[in-house]
Amino acid sequence: MDARIPGFYKLSVAERREAVADHCDLSEEAVSAISGGLDDTRADAISENVIGTIEYPLGIATNFQIDGDDRLIPMAVEETSVVAAASYGARMARPTGGFTTNVSGPVMIAQIQAVDVDDPHAAKVRILEHADELIEAANAEDPTLVEHGGGCRNVEVRVVDTARGAMVVTHLIVDVRDAMGGNAVNSMAEALAPRIEDLTGGDVLLRILSNLADRRLARATATIEPESLTDDDSELSGEEVRDRIVDAWAFAAADPYRAATHNKGIMNGIDAVATATFNDWRAIEAGAHAYASMGGYGPLTSYEVDADGNLACSIEVPIQVGTVGGATQLQPTAQAAMEILDVESADELAGVFAAVGLAQNYAGLRALVSEGIQTGHMNLHAKNIAIQAGASGDLVDEVAERMVAEDAIRQDRAEELIDELS
Ligand code: MEV
Repeated sequence: MDARIPGFYKLSVAERREAVADHCDLSEEAVSAISGGLDDTRADAISENVIGTIEYPLGIATNFQIDGDDRLIPMAVEETSVVAAASYGARMARPTGGFTTNVSGPVMIAQIQAVDVDDPHAAKVRILEHADELIEAANAEDPTLVEHGGGCRNVEVRVVDTARGAMVVTHLIVDVRDAMGGNAVNSMAEALAPRIEDLTGGDVLLRILSNLADRRLARATATIEPESLTDDDSELSGEEVRDRIVDAWAFAAADPYRAATHNKGIMNGIDAVATATFNDWRAIEAGAHAYASMGGYGPLTSYEVDADGNLACSIEVPIQVGTVGGATQLQPTAQAAMEILDVESADELAGVFAAVGLAQNYAGLRALVSEGIQTGHMNLHAKNIAIQAGASGDLVDEVAERMVAEDAIRQDRAEELIDELS
């Protein structure tokens, strides 16, 4: 499969659908699910008090080459420029072989909070002395996970000083295989609570996963040659753009106000893939920002100039996603998105998320340090305004192009142009 589909953006929606179906050899169900959606019965099973569904545009980021394989990336997002920037970012990495990913393993943490413990440090040791018994009891909760090669691997204990006194916090370290793992680890934590009360002499309150999934880190790297960072129209050389990107990163590393926006750019990509695949993006968001703050809030990516003068780009981010279980299976369009992604494990999926986050980030930084993001953004925004003003079909592009040329991207001008061009 070749993830470069030249002129993809110029095709109609239906033509793009066909091109992706061809490229990914999609099943008939997947093709119809892409233009279909969620029926009432399934929607009602996923959430509560359901009265309908809300649609996002599902786009495809092209050009991604990840660990040697070309991939088309489904992205669902309501913001203009995100899918275009991801595709552009992925194209910049192709001359040097695309993205290399590495995932620390599908390991989640469940926390068991014990309060009113008289001897918290001694209680910690008592729990650790019974680690094997606790691991066995946790695994008895989920024989299916154990059969698939997963299960509770370890027990760790922390004494946490809080405003309400010392608390004994037990962590279950669980390999959840291809699941996001929330249900598996929460059940284990609940099952172990009475035994933790015996061992600590305290009361167990919370028994819940931690979204600071720092045992489930996804990493990606890419190398960008300076010539890929500029084009003939640019006043800046590739080396200048490269150095400015490193300056932009240094700004984020030194200033949390900037780091928040820098990381938002990364999450634009990651959340869009999470939405398209019906993964829990709130969990990923919580984990990403908590991880970014571990040494004082900072950027999740890094940029340096390597020995060859190229931009060396890297990302490390907790990615808690699954390919089995959860709501993914109930959403036919998300199933089609998974078919397009064609990943074989949650780890592989996490690597894709990291690569997309990285591409999204440096593509955004490249625009910010050169022409700024508003030019590209406003071109796409102009289309939205044209549609809002009532344009349809070819008129959308015609009206948008005129508004951009006149630097008058406004509803009233769109309405005038619709009258004039209709
Ligand atoms: C906009 O959604 C994202 C950016 O602001 C990210 C950034 O500033 O790096 C462009």
